[in-house]
Amino acid sequence: MPHGALAVPGARELFARMRGKRVLVVGDVMLDEWVWGSVSRISPEAPVPVVAVDDHSFTLGGAGNVANNLRASGARVSFAGAVGDDAEGRRVLELFDAIEVDRRGVIAVTDRPTTRKTRIVAHNQQVVRADWESAQAFGAADRERLRALVAMLAPDHDAVVLSDYAKGLFSREIVEAAQAAPVVAADPKPANIDLFAGVTCVAPNAAEASTATGIAIKDDGSLERAGTKLLERLRCRYVVVTRGERGMALFGAEGERMMIPSVARTVFDVSGAGDTVIAVLTLALAGGAPIALAMQLANFAAGAVVEKLGTATASPEEILELVGANGDDA
Ligand SMILES: Nc1ncnc2c1ncn2[C@@H]1O[C@H](COP(=O)(O)OP(=O)(O)OP(=O)(O)O)[C@@H](O)[C@H]1O
Ligand SMILES: [Mg+2]
Repeated sequence: MPHGALAVPGARELFARMRGKRVLVVGDVMLDEWVWGSVSRISPEAPVPVVAVDDHSFTLGGAGNVANNLRASGARVSFAGAVGDDAEGRRVLELFDAIEVDRRGVIAVTDRPTTRKTRIVAHNQQVVRADWESAQAFGAADRERLRALVAMLAPDHDAVVLSDYAKGLFSREIVEAAQAAPVVAADPKPANIDLFAGVTCVAPNAAEASTATGIAIKDDGSLERAGTKLLERLRCRYVVVTRGERGMALFGAEGERMMIPSVARTVFDVSGAGDTVIAVLTLALAGGAPIALAMQLANFAAGAVVEKLGTATASPEEILELVGANGDDA
């Protein structure tokens, strides 16, 4: 397997071609709620810290973070998915509006809450996280509403991203409706991975690829076996396995193989890096980039994101700066 190919010729031109491409994101949107403060005493009620709150904010999480990354890279973005019929759901819609994501494909469902993750952070350390969510499969009527919306929206887009956080949204029918777009890429959870058979590109992380295949990935040989097995099982054009600090590996149906190292100079916050990868990879493919180039760009984008604290997106300029720092022709 070729290792370490890092040149990203024409990265700047590629960003120019990506700008304005239309991408539909389908998946599990979450509301990330942040409570920031400081601790100066232990509660008299129980042996827990008391957080004096300084700030309180909300961001898009899960598939919403993929939409956010696509916007940061210059795409025109639509979203299809579901929120609960609650205040958090309305806040998700406001957050989409604030970054100009077309959210006509978002439905409100009555039998589940908006997925919400509340983090209480004191002195930049997470104290506790509370999750509101249901991972039950959606009801048949809601799945059909979503399928119809995806079928309506997908033909008007250059690419679709399927962002699965295993909250019960995806069905085979929704995946098939997405395939009206020329490029379809999926970031799957292992339990649902077979739903994504036949899409252009599937991009699990190494742990997910291991779980899905039953092959413990511990060296180049086991990685090759797991990647090849996924490729054969899912009949995709490409499988991209993201490997955290080890970078990413490509398995192509025509025998393409490539491994690239990670490029971050300092690592502050790795959460959401997978969302950045699927966003930039898909947008680059939509812009006509060959897979090797799309993967390199996605790897640099993820590197730029993990170098940052608190923000989960990187701009083209920030990504190009990192490409340049690696001595490549940006
Ligand atoms: N510790 C790290 N050092 C350098 N690069 C990293 C690191 N962690 C992640 N990356 C970059 O981000 C990419 C995706 O990371 P990873 O494989 O962890 O995805 P993930 O597990 O799906 O992430 P998440 O689910 O938290 O969004 C990697 O391929 C790499 O480019
Ligand atoms: Mg992931």
